[in-house]
This record gives sequence, C-alpha cells and structure tokens, in this order.
Amino acid sequence: MSRETLPDSEVRRLLNGGVVALVTTAWHGQENVAPVIWHTPLSIMPPLIGIVVHPSRLTHDMIKYSENFALNIPTPQLMRHVQYAGVVSGANVNKMEALRLPTIKAKAVQAPLLDFCVGWIECGLQDAHRIGDHTLFVGKVVHVSVESAAFDGVWKTDDPDLRPLHYLGGPFYASLREQEEAVLEREESESGAKEGDYRPPPEREEGERG
Ligand SMILES: Cc1cc2nc3c(=O)[nH]c(=O)nc-3n(C[C@H](O)[C@H](O)[C@H](O)COP(=O)(O)O)c2cc1C
Repeated sequence: MSRETLPDSEVRRLLNGGVVALVTTAWHGQENVAPVIWHTPLSIMPPLIGIVVHPSRLTHDMIKYSENFALNIPTPQLMRHVQYAGVVSGANVNKMEALRLPTIKAKAVQAPLLDFCVGWIECGLQDAHRIGDHTLFVGKVVHVSVESAAFDGVWKTDDPDLRPLHYLGGPFYASLREQEEAVLEREESESGAKEGDYRPPPEREEGERG
C-alpha cells in the first residue's frame, strides 16, 4: 500500500459515491432534468436539504426563477439516462422529450416527478448562497415519497433493480452490494445501557485491510 498526494481540486472526487439525484424543474412551460451528486440533508426539523449547482447549468436558473424543484432517486437501470442528462444541457436539448421518461404529477411543487425512480423529494426554494464557484440552493422539503419495495427505513439491497444508483465520478457508477449491520459489543451494566458501555472493536493487525 502506498499513499499518493492529489491536486487539492480533486478533493470532490474523494467525497463521491453517494446516491445520485435527478433534479427536475419546471418554469414557464419548460421542464428540465439534470443529475446532482452534491446534495445533503441540512436540517431535520424543519426538514431542509441542500443541492449545489454551477451557475452555468440551466437547472440553476430554473430553480432560481421557479423557486421549487424535485429530487428523483434513480435505479441502476437509469444509469445511461442519468449520464445523458448530466452531459447535455437543457439549454440546447429538450432532455425530458429525448429521455422519454414518464412523469408523475408532484403533490406540492410544479416540477415533475420521474417514474422509474425509487425516491422523490419535493422542495420549495428557501434560500440560495453563492459559495465559491457554485450556488447552494437550500430546499424546504414539502413532500417525500418512496417506492415501498425499495425502502424500509433504509435503502433495501435485496433487489438489484430497486437499489439507488450511486455515482463515483466521470462516467462511473455503482450500486450497493448488500446490507451489513455494524454490531458493537457492550459492557455488562446493571444500571442500563449507556453510550460509554460500548466496547471498541478489536485492534486491527498492522497492514490488515478489508
Ligand atoms: C452523475 C452526475 C452528477 C452531477 N452532479 C452535479 C452537481 O452536483 N452539481 C452540478 O452543478 N453539476 C453536476 N453535474 C453536471 C450537470 O448535471 C450537467 O452539467 C448537466 O448537463 C446540467 O444540465 P442543465 O444545463 O440542463 O441543467 C453532474 C453530472 C453527472 C453526470
């Protein structure tokens, strides 16, 4: 094993691997779709999420002017749809028509929802912050829905066609393999379990990986 230094600007690649979200937007009769990997929960109550979008994207202005958007979580079956939506701009091509993905009417926003996905998050625009060369859009979550066969409190992994699609960078994607549980041992305690009662996992051998 050897450790190499990367250019600082590559830092974003190390943080990739999360689920991809297809952002759908609607404004003045036009609909658009583009993937984002830079997304995060920001607050539990009120439920707020953030997505980070470059100002050059049509999606950026669609969100800015329409003040709402939806995140659609695709499965591995939509991998090439995601890649197409992520390399072509809605400023040049009507991606909704080109991709021919059926849409569903959202419950609480104008942005359309995409069928064949396994999770849907509808958001109103709460705030926008310019951060470096991107904009952080803060979405106030107004409706959340999931495909029940794909989600049971956490993403299920048993059906490969219903797993969420993950993005590694460039044209590379991945999907979850199997769910594993991190079981920690606890010290015996008469006064009931406390956080400090957990035993640390056993020490790893020098050079041991995997
Ligand atoms: C999987 C994937 C994830 C992406 N994530 C982001 C992102 O988080 N933020 C962003 O600004 N662009 C991201 N992009 C690039 C945009 O999706 C891409 O520029 C797209 O063509 C913009 O479309 P639009 O101009 O129709 O909005 C990503 C591209 C891919 C393929």
